[in-house]
Amino acid sequence: MTRVIMISGANRGIGKAIALKLYENGFLLSLGIRNPDLVDADILSLDKTKVLLSSYNTDNPNAESEWIQKTILKFNKIDGLINNAGIYNLLDIEDDNEEMLDDMLNVNTKAPMRLTRLALPYLRKSGQGRIINMVSDAAKKVEDSKVGYSISKFGFLAASYAMLHAAKKDGVRVTALCPGFVNTDMAKKYFLSTENLIQPETIADIVLMLLNLPNTVVIPELSLDNVEELNYR
Ligand SMILES: NC(=O)c1ccc[n+]([C@@H]2O[C@H](COP(=O)([O-])OP(=O)(O)OC[C@H]3O[C@@H](n4cnc5c(N)ncnc54)[C@H](OP(=O)(O)O)[C@@H]3O)[C@@H](O)[C@H]2O)c1
Repeated sequence: MTRVIMISGANRGIGKAIALKLYENGFLLSLGIRNPDLVDADILSLDKTKVLLSSYNTDNPNAESEWIQKTILKFNKIDGLINNAGIYNLLDIEDDNEEMLDDMLNVNTKAPMRLTRLALPYLRKSGQGRIINMVSDAAKKVEDSKVGYSISKFGFLAASYAMLHAAKKDGVRVTALCPGFVNTDMAKKYFLSTENLIQPETIADIVLMLLNLPNTVVIPELSLDNVEELNYR
């Protein structure tokens, strides 16, 4: 049976690369996108019988339940959830800006928890449910005082392990992906050259590999560095 995969933030960057890769490989897709009317032609041209473009904005308190409902209405099942949407702001430990911290906690930590809570009944039913959380190496280290993003990603990594334990008996497998800088809008402004960064297509290849693993294997966490960062050490 063809599997149905939900991907948040699928209009650009890593999410879009994953969407295109999974589409090429025959998956049915439910793409959560802040503004589905403004997507690029390559996403817009995908076969609408196989792809749902659904509005998903974490600012809307009903965003998660509405997206899940629309997915079930179209495909009647969910086999995988890629919690990918995220934001990156530079928030220093001494900054008096809780609003910025709350924004990152909402998008990066709490929204994936809400989505997972609502998707889990369907993922359990799948028998081969998969959750892939786009965490970050910022969940593994704090190398300066700009800690806001790391706080949100440390929390997300903790939640990812809890997701794994919550549904391990039901065939659901969960992986936290923890990459260094990936060549997307989020990272490229910090680099003069981007060819040595991890490319979003490489992340998409890893996601495809994870989705194709049997239930007998679990990779709870996968860290990957890029050559650019290696050169700094
Ligand atoms: N790039 C990196 O170096 C890197 C490294 C490690 C981990 N990550 C993580 O990987 C994930 C994807 O990052 P990326 O590099 O692809 O970033 P990106 O190019 O900036 O894309 C971010 C995606 O998240 C969506 N998004 C942001 N705020 C949202 C909200 N409030 N509601 C719904 N969607 C929202 C964006 O939608 P709009 O287009 O509407 O803004 C966009 O689709 C993030 O979780 C990020 O933290 C990135």
